[in-house]
Amino acid sequence: MKSLGDLVITISSFLCVFLVLALITIFHKLWWTPNRIQKLMASQGIKGPSYRFIHGNTKEISKMKKEAMSTSLTNFSHDIFSRVQPHILLWNKSCGKNFVQWYGCQVQLVISEPELIKEILNKKDTYPKRKLLPLMKKIFGEGVATTTNPQKWEKLRKLADHAFHGDSLKSMIPTTIASAETMLKRWKNHDGKEIDVYEDFRLLTSEVLCSLLLKTSFKIRFPGISKFFKTSDEIESEKLEKGIRDSIVDIVKKREKEAMTGEENKFGNDFLGLLLKAHHGADDNQRISVDEVIDECKIFYFAGHETTNALLAWTIFLLAIHPDWQEEARNEVLQLFGKQTPNPDGLAKLKTMGMIINETLRLYSPVISYDRRVDREIRLGNLIIPAGFELYISTMSLNSGDKMCIFSNQSDSLKGQDCSVNDSQNYSFTLSPGYVHSPYENLIVRPQHGVQVMLHSL
Ligand code: HEM
Repeated sequence: MKSLGDLVITISSFLCVFLVLALITIFHKLWWTPNRIQKLMASQGIKGPSYRFIHGNTKEISKMKKEAMSTSLTNFSHDIFSRVQPHILLWNKSCGKNFVQWYGCQVQLVISEPELIKEILNKKDTYPKRKLLPLMKKIFGEGVATTTNPQKWEKLRKLADHAFHGDSLKSMIPTTIASAETMLKRWKNHDGKEIDVYEDFRLLTSEVLCSLLLKTSFKIRFPGISKFFKTSDEIESEKLEKGIRDSIVDIVKKREKEAMTGEENKFGNDFLGLLLKAHHGADDNQRISVDEVIDECKIFYFAGHETTNALLAWTIFLLAIHPDWQEEARNEVLQLFGKQTPNPDGLAKLKTMGMIINETLRLYSPVISYDRRVDREIRLGNLIIPAGFELYISTMSLNSGDKMCIFSNQSDSLKGQDCSVNDSQNYSFTLSPGYVHSPYENLIVRPQHGVQVMLHSL
């Protein structure tokens, strides 16, 4: 009996010690460390909202974002900073360009100072990308845009660079034009009616990417990134992920079969062909696995799809409320191409279009933040950043507002929901009276309710 009592006492003591240690660890992680870091950063002049136990600043950030999203922007204001990143705007004002915020107990240094941003983005080995959350990793895979492994990045980046060479891009023009013409044919039935260009460009960009990356027509339909984040249902995400994977595997197998039977010139000269060549290559160091082929296709699709979709839609929105710039863009297009199909040489001469796209990227950039991490203590500018920090680069404060804006003379044209715009060689646009100006961020900055315009053939 005595020995049983001893055993109970021993186990209880162990449990007590274990509990105390667990409590100390939790207390250390959730209270002591955040407070120590806050003091350390404050001593270097870096302030920030106070850390709150367990939640950090997540609750106040969600509240601010919810409030900002509860109304739409009036007068088509381009000042979208207060809407998509209200917390950063507020803390930029009260704490400075660089400040510390907390995602739970994870510390983030928010950086808006151009010199520091340059330094971080120029030193990719010192500031690697942030590791993806498990669900995101599952969906996006580990491709060039997401891998945190420098050797893997280098290998994949070489392949990706090929796809963006001038000649590769030139060879993509006919496919892109063919897809745009298909879209314009669809628009023929909508003369005088409302269309949502955001929806239509979703189809167009998806079609272009599928044909460019995989030389497949749009038989497989990849979902947009947003689809994954509309639902918290992991099972649904898994199903979608599996669907995408299976579609790519089918295309890969078909391509490999064609290469073996000699139907196709080796693996083809599109991006998938390039990846398959690397997969079957003799050089062990450069060879990539089937999973890497699949992840690379996924990454290119996701990185290219919704960004381009949103950019095109925002461009149409801006042109719809600025008929003067519409006119200029149309004149330029007509001068260079008349009613002919655009050609590569002429495309390079589209100066006004280039300005319009750059200005759209400035005002409505689909990507407004970059995530990096700090693995070892590091000096950034005059700051010493301890290991374990995440860096959140916010480019909104650099770009936001109407300053230097080619679309700045907006006040008069704004009243014009009925303002007419010449958008292409074939159509003019009027912004639909039903359009609601509601930019929001869900990974990328997109029009929450689409971009509805009235279409008028010329
Ligand atoms: C308006 C259109 C686009 C915008 C605004 C945009 C923006 C960006 C930004 C800001 C990054 C850097 C992210 C970071 O370093 O954290 C990036 C990376 C990347 N983008 Fe895009 N992108 C666009 C279109 C595309 C397209 C069409 C493709 C491919 C078809 C693409 C493929 C990639 C890839 C592969 C990376 C990773 C590069 C690397 O890490 O080396 N993007 N993009």
